[in-house]
Amino acid sequence: MTLAPEAPAHDGRLIGEAPPSPAGPIDAAEAASLPTPPMIDLPRVLQTLRFNQRQIDFVFGARRRHGEVFRMRGIVPGDPVITSHPDHVQSLFKAKPDDAPSLTGESPLRPIVGPNSVLTSVGPRHMRQRKLLLPPFHGEAIDEYVSMIVEVTEREIAKWPVGEPIALAPRMQAITLDVIMSGIFGIEGTPERGSTEHALRRAVVGLIEASTWKTAQLAELMNIGRDEPVGITKFGLGFLDRPTFKIIAERRRATDLEDRRDILSLLLQARTEEGEALTDQELRDELLTLVLAGHETTANSLAWTWERLVRTPAAHDRLRDAVRGGDQELSDKVVEQTIQEGMRARPVIPIIGRRVKKHWRLGEYAVPPETPVTMSILLVHHREDVYPDPFAFRPERWENAKPGTYTWIPFGGGIRRCLGAALAMAEQRVVLEAMARRLDLAYDTPEPERAIHRNVTMIPSRGATVRVLSRRA
Ligand code: HEM
Repeated sequence: MTLAPEAPAHDGRLIGEAPPSPAGPIDAAEAASLPTPPMIDLPRVLQTLRFNQRQIDFVFGARRRHGEVFRMRGIVPGDPVITSHPDHVQSLFKAKPDDAPSLTGESPLRPIVGPNSVLTSVGPRHMRQRKLLLPPFHGEAIDEYVSMIVEVTEREIAKWPVGEPIALAPRMQAITLDVIMSGIFGIEGTPERGSTEHALRRAVVGLIEASTWKTAQLAELMNIGRDEPVGITKFGLGFLDRPTFKIIAERRRATDLEDRRDILSLLLQARTEEGEALTDQELRDELLTLVLAGHETTANSLAWTWERLVRTPAAHDRLRDAVRGGDQELSDKVVEQTIQEGMRARPVIPIIGRRVKKHWRLGEYAVPPETPVTMSILLVHHREDVYPDPFAFRPERWENAKPGTYTWIPFGGGIRRCLGAALAMAEQRVVLEAMARRLDLAYDTPEPERAIHRNVTMIPSRGATVRVLSRRA
């Protein structure tokens, strides 16, 4: 099954509410009175394969058969439960950190970015890293990047050929990589060949490319549960680590640190409440986390939104009219609604999770301590009761509605909410607006693109291929 591109017209409300469903920590006696969620009855290998390769078919099929809470056998130890009820999501986002730590600590990224980065650590260590990293990702700090994002975007769009099919995902990635290199390392434009900056940029592109190879994905599986990388992952990371440590060392010696706005320079000056600074290894782990978490996600989110737009003429025309009409307020509003709808319909990270440390109620079911409880963002975003006509791409559904904290969750939530959300939104606004203003785009083939799964992300199977019909001055 693919997600249906178009759905019949719908006259009713476009945003609704789910009926309440009790959720949260409970005592052992109450847990004993409730059944455990139904288990998907397929061999583990088959479930793992289907989940990794066809997550959409897998979770929508399981929800049809078992309801909104079910359990699967997978590679995450403890057989994960999958839920899609907003009240269950709320119980996990609002849980005390020790009651429901994030599952990212167990992800294949752990040996790559280390066990102590903001993404992979839990408990007090996570809070420490998060506090250190928050200031440069604040809305106001992000405003300072907007003109740089505009420049990078205009430069990239100007290169696109007219009339030929082009895959948007790699082109979006070129933009988001420039933004991240500039924002994080203070590297601007295309660095000179032979420079450390050039080596770093090439290593990042190489790593992302290599992560699509089947061998690399297998290698990544070999790394699950480890703190240090092994095999070809270790070898490949060397290319990234050498220039990264070199840039850190050079920046430490910089005399203009206080005047610099890039995240590396800000982190070099950051101190914990105890007055501790980040070590080189910590800096490397956090910088790599930001590069890996931040650039492919944003690029594919944009690519998906365009994949939807070119196949939904009403939404596409509405966006173009608003952006080209000369009313800035209307333009900003429609751009925002289109991004919100794009991220609802195609969340790049389709699932996130926590490991509960207490008995936990999930509606009519209970699960014991140590159960991995995952939230299917994809299923939450396609609930009929919350989003009537959920498979239709309708940016106007956001006309009088704000995204709900527990019903619109492409950035996750609670104390693990995406640190780069403000940056990702700023990038998407600039790029979507510039493309809608400057380009007339059309699909290459009318069939919707399938979702393929790469590591933790869900990306369009043909990279959101479009044709530029014309470019405006
Ligand atoms: C459209 C783009 C993006 C999407 C959809 C996205 C999505 C997510 C999601 C779902 C999580 C996990 C949240 C949870 O478990 O509750 C996350 C965490 C994170 N993201 Fe993003 N992200 C995006 C862009 C970025 C950017 C641009 C950066 C930084 C440059 C970034 C940095 C991070 C970090 C550091 C975390 C870990 C936060 C923590 O555990 O405290 N992300 N992101």
